[in-house]
Amino acid sequence: MSHALRFARPDEFPDTDAIPVHAISADGADAALAQLGAASRQWAVTHGFSGALGKTCLLPNEAGGIAAVLLGVGTSADRIRKRFAAGAAISDLPKGLYEVASASLEAHPQNLREEIALGYLLAEYRFDHYRKKSGREAALVALAGIDAPHFERLAQAEAMVRDLVNTPAQDMGPEELEGAARELAARYNAKISVILGDDLLAQNFPMIHAVGRASPRAPRLIDMTWGEGGPQITLVGKGVCFDTGGLNLKPGSSMGTMKKDMGGAANVLGLAQMIMDAGLKLRLRVLIPAVENAVDGSAFRPSDILTARNGMTVEINNTDAEGRLVLADALALGAEGAPDLMISMATLTGAARVAVGPDLAPFYTDDEGLAAQITAKSPDQFDPVWRMPFHAPYEAMIEPGIADLDNAPSGGMAGSITAALFLRRFTQGAARYCHFDIFAWQQSDAPARPKGGLGQGIRALYAVLSEGV
Ligand code: BES
Ligand code: ZN
Ligand code: ZN
Repeated sequence: MSHALRFARPDEFPDTDAIPVHAISADGADAALAQLGAASRQWAVTHGFSGALGKTCLLPNEAGGIAAVLLGVGTSADRIRKRFAAGAAISDLPKGLYEVASASLEAHPQNLREEIALGYLLAEYRFDHYRKKSGREAALVALAGIDAPHFERLAQAEAMVRDLVNTPAQDMGPEELEGAARELAARYNAKISVILGDDLLAQNFPMIHAVGRASPRAPRLIDMTWGEGGPQITLVGKGVCFDTGGLNLKPGSSMGTMKKDMGGAANVLGLAQMIMDAGLKLRLRVLIPAVENAVDGSAFRPSDILTARNGMTVEINNTDAEGRLVLADALALGAEGAPDLMISMATLTGAARVAVGPDLAPFYTDDEGLAAQITAKSPDQFDPVWRMPFHAPYEAMIEPGIADLDNAPSGGMAGSITAALFLRRFTQGAARYCHFDIFAWQQSDAPARPKGGLGQGIRALYAVLSEGV
């Protein structure tokens, strides 16, 4: 849908000299300005250029064009507070071809190049399917010393995640989500099968069926596999294409953003795209229960007791806690394949947002090594995550007495943890398990992250998987 996010190719701009962009830190501004000619120095002073993060100063040439750009990169503390601001500022420059002057990068840490590269590409994203906006204007030559195809791969996967989440439920129901998975599978020669139909689902994936059956848009389980040798990694993503809450209807204020309730599915597809595009040596499986949690006479009800694929019984105490139900059946199937690692991603609880807010992606795993790897990769990838505990004493909170499990413990204390503990009950058979309770949404525009759908955790995970697990 959106245009490809990539660096300028030399042949796209024949006979054009790229305009140099000088990366200048707040501490280095005086020294950098001292190296300019007198007129340029005065121009920068007149315009108050101080190296502040994300601020640019365009130096004119005699023909009235742009001779060079001064790009403020602030301090490293500034960049931690406001990631991608420097790269996004390049994307905001007037139409033209730009190149970051490599000499100006030498004084800075390597990760500034990476942050500028990724920030620029991600800032080029537009969701323009429903309203045509002006296209790509500021083209940037790939920075020296970075692996350009790698950053393009990350940005293009992120763009797909955003497109899937941003597309309203009217055009992104279970069938369209299946279509997106099929398109991805076709592009990388992956195998895909989809389990569909009331009888088949009710029998084999009873909770996916129960949650999805009230919608005229049929529920289904998407199953994609790719790759020959290497460890088996199974990704499971929550694909609730719209979450009304079901009979426990959400109030309008909470329902408003629920087109993003397939954000877990979008994120696992984005991660799968990175893996397949890079050709990582692993056996990948992606499972997506795709449903719409709708209201109808046939809807599942509070107090119903469902039997999950793995035989456990679940008392429904809130039809709005539907994500863990559809994931449970998909996780049970995934675990039957005895993967080396199973990862679920889901916009699972409001409680996760209360705990860590919109920006951090909380994750759970019992594997200390994996937790340390994810945490270590997070800052390098500009992908904030935070480990949360599978706190076993709370297991009692998800046991209602008249069934094996309760989908919505009363009181809601530790809501993200109890949801994660619920999911873990369906993972026996997987050697290791990791769960992300993500938001998948940017609430207001930030550098390289326009308001709307957002990838979370997938760059950190991709970095971990790239090193072999
Ligand atoms: N999709 C929501 C969770 C959600 C809400 C994620 C807002 C991000 C932002 C999920 O299906 C849900 O409604 N969960 C309930 C569970 C509760 C009833 C136990 C919640 O978090 O309130
Ligand atoms: Zn819900
Ligand atoms: Zn939901």
